[in-house]
Amino acid sequence: MSILKEKLKSKIEAWRPRTSRLVKDYGNVKISDVTIEQAIGGARGVKCLTTDISYLDPLEGIRFRGYTIPEVLEKLPKVKAKDGEMPYVEGFFYLLLTGDIPSEKDAMDVAEEFKKRQHVPEYVFNVLRAMPIDSHPMVMFSAGILAMEKESVFVQKYNEGMNKMDYWDPYYEDGLNLLAKLPRIASFIYRLKYKNNDIIKANPDLDMGGNFAHMMGIRKPYDDVARLYFILHSDHESGNVSAHTGHLVASALSDIYYSISAMIDGLAGPLHGLANQEVLRWIQGVMDKMGGKVPSEEEMKKFVWDTLNSGQVIPGFGHAVLRKTDPRYMAQREFCLKHLKDDPIFKYVDVLFKVTPPILEKQGKAKNPWPNVDAQSGVIQWYYGLKEYDFYTVLFGIGRALGVVSNIIWDRALGYPIERPKSVTTAMLEDFAGITEKELQTAK
Ligand SMILES: CC(C)(COP(=O)(O)OP(=O)(O)OC[C@H]1O[C@@H](n2cnc3c(N)ncnc32)[C@H](O)[C@@H]1OP(=O)(O)O)[C@@H](O)C(=O)NCCC(=O)NCCS
Repeated sequence: MSILKEKLKSKIEAWRPRTSRLVKDYGNVKISDVTIEQAIGGARGVKCLTTDISYLDPLEGIRFRGYTIPEVLEKLPKVKAKDGEMPYVEGFFYLLLTGDIPSEKDAMDVAEEFKKRQHVPEYVFNVLRAMPIDSHPMVMFSAGILAMEKESVFVQKYNEGMNKMDYWDPYYEDGLNLLAKLPRIASFIYRLKYKNNDIIKANPDLDMGGNFAHMMGIRKPYDDVARLYFILHSDHESGNVSAHTGHLVASALSDIYYSISAMIDGLAGPLHGLANQEVLRWIQGVMDKMGGKVPSEEEMKKFVWDTLNSGQVIPGFGHAVLRKTDPRYMAQREFCLKHLKDDPIFKYVDVLFKVTPPILEKQGKAKNPWPNVDAQSGVIQWYYGLKEYDFYTVLFGIGRALGVVSNIIWDRALGYPIERPKSVTTAMLEDFAGITEKELQTAK
């Protein structure tokens, strides 16, 4: 058994009594009330999910297994100094899954596991080649993942008959098999769609981030960009659309392939993952209007107001939970200040960072006027030559899969049941509100 699986097994066994005790002895303790606004408004803020993989504090931002982003970047084992300054994605996955900071040996052990599992069956590429070349890359990514469903170890073991408490084991096997293949599938889609089908073979000596950069055909330090990007986008607790979709689908015991394909579909929406391409599209629209010159703060203010007044949102700003500048934005901003501070698009983002929050505050609608992760990430990709911004959400998807796979493995380990919230009708809500039949008739 690998170091990671051995460690995970002992963590699961130690954790189970905590969850069982809470349900058995304290199951009736109330943790949240639900208002009409929440029932109509997307269950915003209703505390009804449990995860230990990450926690999002509205004022502090994300913590992965208790560690802030700067702590994660500092404490995790780094890819050898000559190769880069970012941690191994594989070591980060070890942290997500076990809650412990891995040693260099632990991280390398996961990297070896991923290498062993990275081969993608040829039929996946055939499925992708058969799709219209103008399909959105997220559609291709989701389809490529779903095409591999027949490989599921869980389905095979489930059909043979197995103990519920052992479900996590084949989910782990499926999860690692899938994660190891995602960079290959994603880079294949990129090269097929945008680089004239000039596919670059995997280099089995490289780590996940390094191999992805290699297969994309993008020079250093893009390997570090990939590592940072995958880590930052991995998880944002479990209520956001992509994480929640993955968790929900897997709660029906649909296997990892179904669950992660569905997760990708949720991520593809413009209010969620797709926003990172929207930011760049919007900025380039501004650039075109400005003839490429970096706008003054006054000029940028006008663009922001014009966008708002035309009924559109400012992409990359606002968040459903966060109430401060996203630390994922800050980590990428630091990277930009170090590697691309003179890039014209970065300068646009920089001016936007200064002028937008006060405008959103003045407009008074957005609960959070500060930038989120998407405001900065597209700029870095563009700078390193990844200019096809339809592809950006695929990168997000590789990262997000790390967190969602970790969550799903733990969901099965702790025996979480199928998810089934209760809905009510509009008439029932009116009844709760004490609105009478007469009032309803007069309102007509
Ligand atoms: C992220 C987002 C979807 C969160 O939505 P939310 O939780 O409903 O946000 P709020 O509760 O603050 O929204 C209240 C109002 O402010 C508006 N608002 C929020 N963010 C805004 C923004 N960046 N620009 C303009 N208006 C915004 C909302 O559209 C909403 O308007 P409405 O009452 O007319 O419907 C939203 O902030 C948004 O659309 N941002 C831009 C897209 C983006 O960056 N998405 C990536 C998120 S990681």
